[in-house]
Amino acid sequence: MKKSDVVQAIFRQPIPQDPKHEKGLAFAPTNIALVKYWGKRDVELNLPVTSSLSIALLDKGAMTTITLQDQAYDTVVLNNQAIPAHSEFAKRISQFLDLFRPEKKWHVHIDIKMNIPAAAGLASSACGFASLMSALNDLFNWQLTLRQLSILARLGSGSAARSFWTGFVEWHAGVQPDGMDSVAEPLAIEWPMLRVGLLTMSEKQKPISSREAMQRTVDSSILYSAWPKKVMQDLAILKQALHTKNFSLLGGTAESNALTMHATMLASWPAVCYFLPETIAAMHQIWALRQQGMELYFTQDAGPNLKLLFLETDTHHVKANFPTVEIVKVFE
Ligand code: PMV
Repeated sequence: MKKSDVVQAIFRQPIPQDPKHEKGLAFAPTNIALVKYWGKRDVELNLPVTSSLSIALLDKGAMTTITLQDQAYDTVVLNNQAIPAHSEFAKRISQFLDLFRPEKKWHVHIDIKMNIPAAAGLASSACGFASLMSALNDLFNWQLTLRQLSILARLGSGSAARSFWTGFVEWHAGVQPDGMDSVAEPLAIEWPMLRVGLLTMSEKQKPISSREAMQRTVDSSILYSAWPKKVMQDLAILKQALHTKNFSLLGGTAESNALTMHATMLASWPAVCYFLPETIAAMHQIWALRQQGMELYFTQDAGPNLKLLFLETDTHHVKANFPTVEIVKVFE
């Protein structure tokens, strides 16, 4: 099955190609997985091997504006910088747009403003593709539901499926070959005391994309076969932690899940290693603080940076120990 088949199945009719407004505009928050998505059951459709569960960062994300232009090509500007048309990033966006313009009748100028470091493991592709999908929906007034937007944005980047809601969001792996059941949905749980701290060690482009790293892990890591079982256990424990507001259980489960994901990568060949010396040093610092009784945990995605997990009451401790941390509220 191809991506275009999924698009066709969602629209069920020729995709309306007449813009309803001058501009399409949308914001999508980025999301941090507490139980991660790592590995695809269908590479073309970005269908995951397992379900995953994330928390959205309220006001950290991407604002995308799309305007039609009278040129035979698309232009992309990210944080006020023009992106070269031949770059991987611009090509990925144009290919995604092609899914919605079978006859290539229109081209657009896309302006993306992200208030998170791009491509440093802070889920920029998640909020990027989610906001792009919503902005298209706005421009053409397609009136797609959030569920449909989640399925379509997933075709651009898997984790984008989770970026249409605030709070906790679960992306169900689904079993159907067309992925119509591989969709995210928000959980009706709030935890206003929860905080996420962004600990940025490097804003450099990551050495290997999550897409490539994921595939290499699935293809070559002997540890990958243990991953689906680990995710199943962690999802059940995490949901229990959310329902009982047990923060140690939430933090421990998220940290252990992230470390296990990185362990599967380390066992790939060539090894995939997103740790920098600073990443490891910060981990040791967190473990030492925990030994002293502080309730502080971390998670890490496909990049060297850590995301700290803690409760509002520990904010001053966290700031004192990590002066550069950027603290984000996750609920209003
Ligand atoms: O959506 P992608 O292809 O950028 O993959 C995201 C993978 C992780 O961020 C490492 C985990 C996750 O669930 O977000």
